[in-house]
Amino acid sequence: MKQYDVIAIGELNVDLILNGIERDIEIGKEIFAKDMLLTLGSSTAIFAANTSSLGAKVGFVGMIGKDSFGQLVKDSLISKGVSTDFIIETDKYATGVTVGMNYGEERAMVTHQGPMDVMTFDDIDLSVFESTKHIHISSVFFQAGLKNDLVKILKYATEKGITTSLDVQWDPSEEWDFDYKAILPWVTVFIPNETEITLLTHSKTLEEAIEKVKPLINICAIKQGNKGSLLLQKDGTTHFLNSFLNSEVVDAIGAGDSFNSGFIFQFTKGGNPKECQYFGNLMGAINTTSAGGTGAFSSKMNIEKVCKEKFGQNIKL
Ligand SMILES: Nc1ncnc2c1ncn2[C@@H]1O[C@H](COP(=O)(O)OP(=O)(O)O)[C@@H](O)[C@H]1O
Ligand SMILES: [Mg+2]
Repeated sequence: MKQYDVIAIGELNVDLILNGIERDIEIGKEIFAKDMLLTLGSSTAIFAANTSSLGAKVGFVGMIGKDSFGQLVKDSLISKGVSTDFIIETDKYATGVTVGMNYGEERAMVTHQGPMDVMTFDDIDLSVFESTKHIHISSVFFQAGLKNDLVKILKYATEKGITTSLDVQWDPSEEWDFDYKAILPWVTVFIPNETEITLLTHSKTLEEAIEKVKPLINICAIKQGNKGSLLLQKDGTTHFLNSFLNSEVVDAIGAGDSFNSGFIFQFTKGGNPKECQYFGNLMGAINTTSAGGTGAFSSKMNIEKVCKEKFGQNIKL
């Protein structure tokens, strides 16, 4: 018996979100924002929190500074039932932070990566690989050290009999420098969105991207926003599943991370790829019924209730 079902390896930061900003920012001037929120940020943290809320035993590997933002990150993860035992604390860097300035539907963001950028394979406590069934890696373009060591980590996990999943997420440099040919064969479940997989493979269309990754993947689920998702398998079969339509979307922040939670939660419970895809679509949809990435995942009971009332789906967690 392993102690954890899933260990997430990824970025950690706080989000400082400013709302009700009176006008556009101007260099050299100070303006007011009516509201602000200081909260746990990070796509990988949303994944970890929601996978834990679904009932999996989840741990986190990431690097933070020895500072109050680092403490906020740890307290927030613990409050979601995510173990922080493998989190690495450094006094060389300040904990990562994203400052988000909301202007209606539009948002400007500035991120200080801090230690997330320097963490490498050598920083990871090797007992991680002994204590989990599955490793999920995300947001590689925010983490240069981790990106360099991806094959090393994935190979090591495979040798230890652990399954893996990868969501690359957006590349802020938009260079998409990523050796997918070397990396994808080592990934059990690859979970990009349709834009990311197209850019990552330097393709003009999604179809071209699919042709390129087909010979490399084991299981791949491509997220397609409010359309749904497309499942590709090693044997060449594909399966498109419509999204669960939500006519009252609050916001789609974290929908992709919640899709990952649903998919990987089912996967670690032994679900077949189509069952995993169904759960992914459902959790992506549930995500859109509340504000932010974790709002709809307050408890198993709430998740089951929203599934039934909003989407007519009976699930038992
Ligand atoms: N408006 C929506 N209504 C219902 N389901 C949605 C909606 N937006 C996203 N989803 C579900 O969440 C999944 C992930 O969302 P997507 O936006 O594609 O991911 P990402 O955030 O990584 O770009 C989709 O595949 C879909 O199943
Ligand atoms: Mg995403």
